This record gives sequence, structure tokens and C-alpha cells, in this order.
Amino acid sequence: MEIFIATSNKNKVKEFKDMLEPKGYSIKSLNDLDEEIEIEENGQTFEENAIIKASTIAKRFNIVAISDDSGLEIDALNKEPGIYSARYLGHDTSYDYKNSQILLKLKNETNRDCRYVCSIAICYPSGENHVFTGILEGSIAYEMTGSNGFGYDPIFYYEPFKTTLANVPLDLKNQVSHRHIALMKLLEYLDAKE
Ligand code: IMP
Repeated sequence: MEIFIATSNKNKVKEFKDMLEPKGYSIKSLNDLDEEIEIEENGQTFEENAIIKASTIAKRFNIVAISDDSGLEIDALNKEPGIYSARYLGHDTSYDYKNSQILLKLKNETNRDCRYVCSIAICYPSGENHVFTGILEGSIAYEMTGSNGFGYDPIFYYEPFKTTLANVPLDLKNQVSHRHIALMKLLEYLDAKE
């Protein structure tokens, strides 16, 4: 079966390919299209945004499509940055800046609970949709450490590793990540469907 990944992010495409191709799925992405497709992520939740992206592609190209939406929720900041994680404090600001501002906002805060959330939607041209969500609980560190991973990883302290996610090898992070958990749920669904 052919599955279309509704993203042009090469890292995401690789992660999906690594999981799905050994199972016999043939994977295509926005990078394989001749035309540029802009999809407005105007949902209010990770799940809604994942469905908006995948269902748009599924209907437009009459194909099974998968999409994900993810981000960081910080309890002491009313779950910010949440669905705005990529554009938090400005589209073009560096993560050094975003992370240092978060540390500043939480300077006197004892509740440092946070989580990464990833919702993966699989949508069919018929309009059938399914969403799978993975959550990784952590806490906001007191300083930035590590240079692996990306985004908010230098301030995401993960208790089982006793350090931030940016301080461990990427393949170790990818074994426990919110995206991995959601992907495993998707695989379970696809396996049961066969
Ligand atoms: P998306 O590509 O629209 O899902 O945006 C996800 C955004 O959430 C990223 O740009 C990061 O800001 C943040 N994010 C999601 N997952 C991670 C992660 O594993 N590490 C660090 N930041 C993440």
C-alpha cells in the first residue's frame, strides 16, 4: 500500500520511512510533488492540526495520507507554547532565545512540569480519519544543557535519563519520544488492519 506523508520535513519523512517501509508500505511525501502545497494549520489542538494536514492531502490526491503535529506544553505557562511551539515568540527567533526566555519566565517557579505531545493522523480519501497521540512527560530544567536533538530539547529534563534530551544520543531519545509512542500506536493500528 502507498502512504503519503503530508510533510516536507526530511527528518520526519525518514522516521516514517524507517518504521513503515520494512512493513511493506511505500512512502511518498510533499517533496515528491511538482507543485507546492500550503496547508493552513488553523486547528485548536494537535489532533485537529494533524487531521487538517492529512485529510487535505488525502482528498486532493485520492490517497491514504499521514501527518503529525507536535509541541511542548508547560503547565506553569498555561500549557504554552503548545500548538504554537514552532512559532513561539516569533517565527524566526532561535531556540536559544525561546529556551532562555522560558527559563526566565520560570525563574521563580517550582512547578516545572511539562510534556511533549505528538498527534499522528491517518486519513483516507473517503473521509475516514484516525488519530494517535504520544505523550512524553518531563520537567523544565534550570539551565540549558546539551547540543543533540533540536528545538526545546536543551531545557527538557527527562527524569529516567537524569538529564535533558539534548544531552543523550539522538537514537536514545527517539526510543522514548512522543513521536515514537504515537508512531507505535499507528503501527499497531495498521498491523491490526491487515
Ligand atoms: P510541527 O513540526 O508543526 O509538529 O512543530 C513541532 C514544534 O514543536 C517544533 O518546531 C519544536 O518547536 C517543538 N517540538 C516538537 N517535538 C520536539 C522534540 O522532540 N524536541 C524539541 N522540540 C520539539
